[in-house]
Amino acid sequence: VAKLAERGRAVMIGTRNPVSTLANAQPDRLSNQTFSDWQAQHPQIKLGTFAEAAAHGELLLNATTGSGSLDALKLAGEQNLNGKVLVDISNPLDFSRGLPPSLFVSNTDSLGEQIRRAFPDVKVVKSLNTLTAALMVNPGLLPEPTAVFVGGNDAVAKATVTALLKNDFGWQTVIDLGDLSSARGTEMVLPLWVNLMGVQQTSLFNFKIVRQ
Ligand SMILES: NC(=O)c1ccc[n+]([C@@H]2O[C@H](COP(=O)([O-])OP(=O)(O)OC[C@H]3O[C@@H](n4cnc5c(N)ncnc54)[C@H](OP(=O)(O)O)[C@@H]3O)[C@@H](O)[C@H]2O)c1
Repeated sequence: VAKLAERGRAVMIGTRNPVSTLANAQPDRLSNQTFSDWQAQHPQIKLGTFAEAAAHGELLLNATTGSGSLDALKLAGEQNLNGKVLVDISNPLDFSRGLPPSLFVSNTDSLGEQIRRAFPDVKVVKSLNTLTAALMVNPGLLPEPTAVFVGGNDAVAKATVTALLKNDFGWQTVIDLGDLSSARGTEMVLPLWVNLMGVQQTSLFNFKIVRQ
């Protein structure tokens, strides 16, 4: 989000309750900052309800907890979502049986497809769910080029997201995996990703595809 604002985009973050998000004294586990401290450093980024953020955006990003994504999008409101491109970076992680998480949908279906079925007029593009947030907007943190994937049913929407990944985030290798059923594969990569994070003790790694 900060990267998008840096690139001159007018960004709004949605939350269930802006007042409690601003009052939350619990630091975020990745940035180790409270939301209000973070926002003080990014005053140009607005905070609103999910509905206000969805109404504000031309391009939408679903970065909500997988188990809450459908609820968050319902709160965003179909009328604010329809016709728009939604980059879905969520993962269907199920922590109900502890660690490591399992997936609450997989194999013959995916969270990306569940979102599309619930909101058929939204142009869902699955992307960025296979790597950690710091790398999403800064692939150059790794010593060699790696890959990011896109999958979705709308070619124009995928081209829009690919342009964002390349021009705003600096990706060189964006692999189009085909339609949204490809989200099954990119979501099912998560158990491997979690395993790799555990054994390497870092989240700063990514997949590289080498072909003939
Ligand atoms: N963090 C990463 O590096 C990373 C990498 C790849 C993919 N992802 C995926 O991106 C998504 C976001 O991850 P995150 O690490 O930023 O944080 P997160 O804690 O998984 O998600 C926080 C967001 O989810 C919303 N939320 C939580 N429960 C909800 C519910 N029951 N109903 C509606 N909304 C709910 C929160 O809304 P409130 O503000 O109202 O609490 C907040 O917007 C996840 O699906 C994750 O798997 C994350």
